[in-house]
Amino acid sequence: MKHLTGINDLSDSDITALLDKAQGYADALNNGGKVERSLKRKTIITMFFENSTRTRLSFEMAAHKLGASVVNWDLETSSVKKNETFLDTILTVGAMKPDAVIVRHAEFEAPVFMSRRMGCPIVNAGDSWREHPTQALLDALTIRQAKGRIEGLTIALCGDVAHSRVASSNLALLSRLGAKLRVIAPDFLMPQKFSVSGIETFTDMDKGLPGCDIIMMLRNQKERMTTGNIPDDTTFHRQYGLTTDRLALAPNALVMHPGPMNRGVEISDDIADHPTHSLILKQVTNGIPTRMAVLDYCLNY
Ligand code: NCD
Repeated sequence: MKHLTGINDLSDSDITALLDKAQGYADALNNGGKVERSLKRKTIITMFFENSTRTRLSFEMAAHKLGASVVNWDLETSSVKKNETFLDTILTVGAMKPDAVIVRHAEFEAPVFMSRRMGCPIVNAGDSWREHPTQALLDALTIRQAKGRIEGLTIALCGDVAHSRVASSNLALLSRLGAKLRVIAPDFLMPQKFSVSGIETFTDMDKGLPGCDIIMMLRNQKERMTTGNIPDDTTFHRQYGLTTDRLALAPNALVMHPGPMNRGVEISDDIADHPTHSLILKQVTNGIPTRMAVLDYCLNY
């Protein structure tokens, strides 16, 4: 059985195969949408213990495009609200024998815990600050399309890297794909250590941005912060926001953001909506073919 709980579940050849397959689906969707229904008669359950717009919808669209049925478990109307434990909840869902479960959860390694107990493939749609593997894969696909390669590119992850599962999965994936990685963050949002080596760190945007090919901005994830030492939004924007003036320091750079954006905090309106520099909506579009490739990989293993 194949799960996708984190980037290191994947071998190098799995990563290449997934990105190639995702590109194939992206091309097919662009050319009229004819794809083989490789998940016909499969039933997938989504379990989102945390809010989501783009991740949940694109997983659902991906499953539908491959012919699967999707059933949503809903936290608000679930028996969790009657004090059922997490373990009883997942054993109950597992007893219905779904073909796969897609999960987002605030607890560290919740998808790993589920993968040992539910008897079906588990696909991680984001856990704690630890991993969001499909976001990293769709980001890699987006970079590959825009720049033609990943190896040798200088890619900066900026802002709240410490609390970001998107950053954590991207650092793992992009370093394996040969990118030169930078992290630009104030001390209080800088991770204390990294799981991969060779990352250059900067606390000053104006020093970290020159020479970048890709700039990935991140939201301040206040819901995961334990200390309250983050400055107000206006001060943060002045110090760490990506603006037209700052982007001029890296004139060839393309800008990414996993969403949801906080405009006027980590990113200005004109950069978020920039017609040539922003890849942000391309990332959203690429979520569907990437998740099609992941579901196909996990369910047809
Ligand atoms: C993020 C998430 O939930 O991990 N968004 C996403 O899935 N595209 C990032 C965030 O919440 O800031």
